[in-house]
Amino acid sequence: MSGEHFKAPRGTYDVLGEDAAARVVFESKARAILEGAGYERIETPAFEATELFARGVGVSTDIVQKEMYTFTDGSGRSLTLRPEGTAPVCRAYVEHGMHKAPQPVKLWYLSNFFRYERAQKGRFREFWQVGAEALGSDDPAVDAESIALLGTLLEEMGVREVRLRLSSLGGADSRASYRERLQKHLRANEADLAEEVRERIELNPLRAFDSAHEGTVAAMRDAPRLLDELDPADADHFAEVQALLDRAGVRYEIDPTLVRGLDYYTRTVFEFSSDALGAQSGVGGGGRYDGLVEQLGGPATPGMGWAAGIERILLAGSAPAAASASVDLYVGLDMGEGDVARSALSLAAFGVLTEARSAGLRACMEMAGRSLKGQMRQADRVGARYVAIVGQDGTVLKDMQDGGQEMLDTDTVVHAALRGLRDL
Ligand code: HAM
Repeated sequence: MSGEHFKAPRGTYDVLGEDAAARVVFESKARAILEGAGYERIETPAFEATELFARGVGVSTDIVQKEMYTFTDGSGRSLTLRPEGTAPVCRAYVEHGMHKAPQPVKLWYLSNFFRYERAQKGRFREFWQVGAEALGSDDPAVDAESIALLGTLLEEMGVREVRLRLSSLGGADSRASYRERLQKHLRANEADLAEEVRERIELNPLRAFDSAHEGTVAAMRDAPRLLDELDPADADHFAEVQALLDRAGVRYEIDPTLVRGLDYYTRTVFEFSSDALGAQSGVGGGGRYDGLVEQLGGPATPGMGWAAGIERILLAGSAPAAASASVDLYVGLDMGEGDVARSALSLAAFGVLTEARSAGLRACMEMAGRSLKGQMRQADRVGARYVAIVGQDGTVLKDMQDGGQEMLDTDTVVHAALRGLRDL
């Protein structure tokens, strides 16, 4: 071998060992919680037409402006690796006529997403989200249920120091008039604002609330608050969401400065964070997006959902690791002294292996040419309950628990192991 070896690209990682096991636990908990609440699994393609995200997520957002992995395919189409899952789910909802099914349609996903962001702890360029979307109902109970389900998932994953912030962005009308008033306030304070906030006064004034820049923070202190100006229907909706969360015992703080990095939100928005995480503290968030389906060419359809980052949940969590799967039967080979026909033994051992698997045993076979001693050590390492050493004159079956062993006809080995396991 020569030359440099390859490394995973910056901001990406390999999933191995304990990490892989923790993800299995995560997936099974997420499935139990979400499917238990009537959500069905959906998976959409890893790439979509670029226009879907430009229109869905919003051209003024950081995601669309700076973070998309966009490429042209062989036919000259512009495609983008999905940076988020809500726009694709809405696309699928329309494409498959799900608006004709009983509403709300509740869908969940566990998928990888791609954003060209500055890579750091808890922030990756390929990351995984679990997400849940409920389409077709604007009932505040949908909001409260959705938020409560993410709360339950975080709790079950042992995520520490969780905070839930909640706000409402109102509907399109109150948003538009509020936007103008906020822009007026920003222009009046323009000299104190960070450059990037100044640049976005026209395009995305709400993001000024997100800035950590000192002058901006000061200027935003007496900025008008959308929450104080909701129209009566939006204010009622928000009050009801709060009452339902109270009823469910979900603790939250109202944060009128909560804005999210995507443009599609209306009414309820929320974010769970963990103080155990440091800078990238957002573990999951979402909200209502009552205009998105229509904006993507579908019928007017309300929607509500969230997504949560798996890496951050695992970083901030303390879920018990999955018990590592041990092996019922380890099939070894006794090559003996002289000139044993290796292929004949190998065939016999392989027969035991496949027969064991057909019988439902977790089985593996020696495939690295180890010595007998090495094979026993390996069987120990994989936690084998039984070891079958296939030889020329039959097979020795060893019970690793009590150390007992017997010489058997190779054909009867699986049967004997099964009987032993059943007697446990
Ligand atoms: P988001 O806030 O952009 O929302 O992402 C949701 C979660 O994904 C974040 O809270 C964070 O845990 C995780 N996340 C985002 N970017 C990264 C990254 N670069 N590395 C690691 N984790 C990350 C959405 O994506 C919306 N689609 C949520 C939604 C669903 N709203 C309504 N429905």
